[in-house]
Amino acid sequence: MKALLSKASGGPDTLSLEELPDPVAGKGQVLVAVQACAINYPDVLIIEDKYQFKPPRPFAPGGEIAGVVEAVGEGVTDWAPGDRVIAVPGHGGLAEKLVLSPAQLYRLPEGRSFEEGAALLLTYATTIHALLDRGRLTAGQTLLVLGAAGGVGLAAIELGKAFGATVVAAVSSEEKAEAARAAGADATLVYPRGPLDKEASKALAEAFKAAVGPKGADVIYDPVGGDYAEPALRAIGWEGRYLVVGFPAGIPKLPLNLTLLKSCDVCGVFWGAFAARDPEANRAHVETLFRLWSEGKIAPRVTEVFPFAEGGTAIAKMAARAVIGKVVVRVAVT
Ligand SMILES: NC(=O)c1ccc[n+]([C@@H]2O[C@H](COP(=O)([O-])OP(=O)(O)OC[C@H]3O[C@@H](n4cnc5c(N)ncnc54)[C@H](OP(=O)(O)O)[C@@H]3O)[C@@H](O)[C@H]2O)c1
Repeated sequence: MKALLSKASGGPDTLSLEELPDPVAGKGQVLVAVQACAINYPDVLIIEDKYQFKPPRPFAPGGEIAGVVEAVGEGVTDWAPGDRVIAVPGHGGLAEKLVLSPAQLYRLPEGRSFEEGAALLLTYATTIHALLDRGRLTAGQTLLVLGAAGGVGLAAIELGKAFGATVVAAVSSEEKAEAARAAGADATLVYPRGPLDKEASKALAEAFKAAVGPKGADVIYDPVGGDYAEPALRAIGWEGRYLVVGFPAGIPKLPLNLTLLKSCDVCGVFWGAFAARDPEANRAHVETLFRLWSEGKIAPRVTEVFPFAEGGTAIAKMAARAVIGKVVVRVAVT
């Protein structure tokens, strides 16, 4: 089989498409022929050894896939060759074949494409956990989403609306603001691309406050970090929840006096660890996501599909802050 391998730490140009022996499904395992692999910001980080998990090299990046079961190992009864599945292996998705455990698999609903299926789970499952378990978001509350036209950002807009919140979307360009409105945001705010000096930081805090209204944001969803975090925290409401999701703009430091003044919580979000520690709760969230998907309340927004040989270009585009919604790599040529 072919796989897009990281053999040394570095950017997307270090990845190379290589031939490897086909993997085999062992006892209790399922062999999946990967059709599509969605790209996420962790793919930018993992190949540079900047992610929480550091797989031994050589490895293929690619955190979430959709494909077809090719073979099942001894003792597997729930899955059969031909089943269409989606999964979040974490890495290894940019390869033609992948061995997974049955517990990692979800059925791709009839009528849904492999590209859409591959782009569902990582962003929406992270976000439903963030908004409900960590953010305690309820109907009628105000949700401020940073980086709102990115993968998890658009998921936060759609889920925020599905849960009855008023959603204010903050992004770095008018084109991204348009995408946020198309996903259902009630209001949008365009912030500078940074870095922000003291004056710009103050101005952004005022812009966030004006956008969320006088009571402040009940929940702030921050997958961006950097210079945007403190101005956003200044716009939080009394007993608000600030969700720490990711740091493409850098790891920020927050003045803790702001938390005292608003009696607010700063909440870490680590979906992968949550799903490993509480698989039942995660499965229940995923069931909710499939229901919302079938009701048309959420839908992965795949804006570009790359051929397998250009998987590195897809990752480079994400690193360059140039992606709107989700980009997907078509792994199988069918
Ligand atoms: N905590 C968890 O469990 C979990 C799970 C999944 C993902 N994440 C994290 O969430 C973050 C977003 O992931 P994603 O897949 O949604 O990525 P994404 O689609 O690239 O979205 C990230 C957004 O960050 C903004 N950004 C600001 N500075 C940037 C920079 N220097 N480079 C790139 N983007 C920049 C961009 O929006 P603007 O241009 O509008 O600012 C971009 O749309 C990542 O840090 C990822 O690791 C965390």
